[in-house]
Amino acid sequence: MTNRKKEHVELAALARVDLKDIDKRFHYEPLLSGHPSETPEPFHFLGKTMNVPLWISSMTGGTTLAKKINRNLAKACREFGLGMGLGSCRKLLDNDTYLGDFDLRDIIGTQQPFFANLGIAQIEKLLEEKRIDKIYKLLEKLNADGLIIHVNPLQEWLQPEGDKIRNAPIETIEKLIQTAKFDIIVKEVGQGMGPESLKRLLQLPVAAIEFGAFGGTNFSKMEVMRSGKKQPVYDEAFTMVGHDAFEMTNMINSILIKGINVKCKHIIISGGINSFLDGYYLINKCSLPAIYGQASAFLKHANESYDSLQNFVKEQITGLQMAKAYLNVK
Ligand SMILES: Cc1cc2nc3c(=O)[nH]c(=O)nc-3n(C[C@H](O)[C@H](O)[C@H](O)COP(=O)(O)O)c2cc1C
Repeated sequence: MTNRKKEHVELAALARVDLKDIDKRFHYEPLLSGHPSETPEPFHFLGKTMNVPLWISSMTGGTTLAKKINRNLAKACREFGLGMGLGSCRKLLDNDTYLGDFDLRDIIGTQQPFFANLGIAQIEKLLEEKRIDKIYKLLEKLNADGLIIHVNPLQEWLQPEGDKIRNAPIETIEKLIQTAKFDIIVKEVGQGMGPESLKRLLQLPVAAIEFGAFGGTNFSKMEVMRSGKKQPVYDEAFTMVGHDAFEMTNMINSILIKGINVKCKHIIISGGINSFLDGYYLINKCSLPAIYGQASAFLKHANESYDSLQNFVKEQITGLQMAKAYLNVK
């Protein structure tokens, strides 16, 4: 006790906060709740049960580190009740060399949502070749709950070895939906989507839209950097367009109040989500049932060790529980 008091005196000058840094997104209500329990309430999402409204956004497989990273992520999914999307499973369409990197269902268990992932360019090609059976085989071998389609025209365009997308992605998605008997999630990869794309998607019976919003990892920028060559100016310019998660949440809410027939059931708010407070704020702002997703934030910890990942997830859960108890979204 005496020690604690002494520390308070020593730290008082350093522990001052500046009024301009106050977080204006919340009403802080200290009178209305006791300290929360450490264990969150389970809830239904994508036809499964989750404990925490947190999604591990798609990251890649097929590299030396991918197996360890993916296995750590899958372990955390099971321990804490999270959902997970795989990185692009393109490598598994024709052979099983990298199956071990992606084959995570036994680690995750059957309760949590677990989705495979392919790019829109592959879907376009599979539809053209009438080889949708390859998607069914992929989902079967991974025992996945469905497929995430990443729509990434800017990334493909700026990637030196990128695929060309010949048709409007929305038409490709509509075509796939006509025959698909599996759940589909559609996402961007870090630049988000504008109101017309969101409106078209919301009217389709997709299981979820994942934002992949602007503000975090930016693949277009990465591809420009990767290419190494001096890029024409227009390439650089394209890396700075997009929509952040706040803007996209507002777009969804505006579309919903226009009385449009919305068939999409869930939203995964991702891309540039820096903390549980960002996530908590946006899922409460969103008029459709929503969780939040992160990619790069998980990557660092999953690569380091399971302990590091475990601590990271525990911090988020405690933060979310505290936010639920004391913060009302304005
Ligand atoms: C290393 C890495 C690999 C990724 N690979 C994929 C992928 O294969 N498919 C996909 O849909 N998105 C992929 N993404 C994009 C993420 O799912 C996410 O949309 C994007 O990183 C923005 O989220 P963040 O700001 O939390 O990182 C990848 C992201 C990272 C960091």
